Amino acid sequence: ASGPLVDTFGRVHRDLRISLTDRCSLRCTYCMPEQGNEWLAKSSILTLDEIERVARVAAAAGITTFRLTGGEPLLRNDLVEVVRRLRAIEGPDGPVQVAMTTNGIRLPEALPGLIDAGLGRLNISIDTLRRDRFHALTRRDRLDDVLQGIAAAAASGLAPLKLNAVAMREVNDDELVELVEFAISHGAQLRFIEQMPLDAGHTWSRERMVTRDEILATLSRRWHLTPVPGRGGAPAETWTLDGGPHRVGVIASVTAPFCGDCDRLRLTADGQLRNCLFSTTEFDVLPILRGDSDDIDRDLDAMMRGCILRKLPGHAIDDPSFLQPARGMNAIGG
Ligand code: GTP
Ligand code: 5AD
Ligand code: SF4
Repeated sequence: ASGPLVDTFGRVHRDLRISLTDRCSLRCTYCMPEQGNEWLAKSSILTLDEIERVARVAAAAGITTFRLTGGEPLLRNDLVEVVRRLRAIEGPDGPVQVAMTTNGIRLPEALPGLIDAGLGRLNISIDTLRRDRFHALTRRDRLDDVLQGIAAAAASGLAPLKLNAVAMREVNDDELVELVEFAISHGAQLRFIEQMPLDAGHTWSRERMVTRDEILATLSRRWHLTPVPGRGGAPAETWTLDGGPHRVGVIASVTAPFCGDCDRLRLTADGQLRNCLFSTTEFDVLPILRGDSDDIDRDLDAMMRGCILRKLPGHAIDDPSFLQPARGMNAIGG
């Protein structure tokens, strides 16, 4: 088959999120259990060549952006080479974009090499600016490392720089305005995220989730918010602050999902294609990559299309029968 990756609801897929490892330098409570996970077996992790191969097939099928995720992608020691190889791929309308979502730790050292390799955009997670809270939430005392990473990203000129904060009741919900001001001071856009039921510990509850409307109510006490139209396939809705140049975003995956416009396909570090964060079925590319097919690219393309065709109209978090995926966020890639 050829042509773009279109599902049965007409959604065209342009964005491949590639998880490079399930390991992380932090242990955020909403993502991983304290002791970490049963890590993926090293032998099942896609190699640089294998990632490149899948990415080439994806680009031939219309994928224009690769987003590198984890766990923490900076823990992957061939990261620079991954970026370089992906960036060299020709997409349907020219060279592909390579972006990364990171916790920022060790970013100052890594950034020059990544930019040289062609990294185009960065999103960095920062849920709190208070050291004690950061330590409690991530179970690691590394706020300063993250702040240095953000400063390095801001100074690098990669734009737009986005900062992600999962809003959590009685954890950081009194810091929302400060987080926005912090982002502005770094020339970045803060995006608040509704917490999703994807933690390995299954501790999510609707009551602890801070909703889009609550976030907007809090921000509205400080700024006049004007919605920015034209969201495209982006997960965030955005608003300008007091009509000025700065913006804030909200990713309301639970109370106002953007599934209808979803253009994402996911590849886990161990080679599973997923058509949704919440999918319960995965499509394993390893047997194709490591088997004896006479046309590996054809088989990968067919698997990608099969995966997309099975995509549901959206997640079913609100369904009484909702089941959390077996993998935690760190092994899906966010
Ligand atoms: P941009 O291209 O900058 O918009 O990146 P992004 O927002 O897609 O990526 P990022 O990795 O920064 O993700 C921010 C938040 O959006 C995380 O909580 C992700 O889990 C969530 N997210 C990203 N893609 C999807 C998706 O397809 N569905 C849902 N429900 N959430 C998503
Ligand atoms: N719900 C919402 N966002 C989450 N992230 C990680 N786990 C969750 C969750 N359960 C966010 C991280 C990071 C992005 C990749 O996903 O904070 O910013
Ligand atoms: Fe796409 Fe699934 Fe996220 Fe909805 S929940 S936007 S379908 S990945």
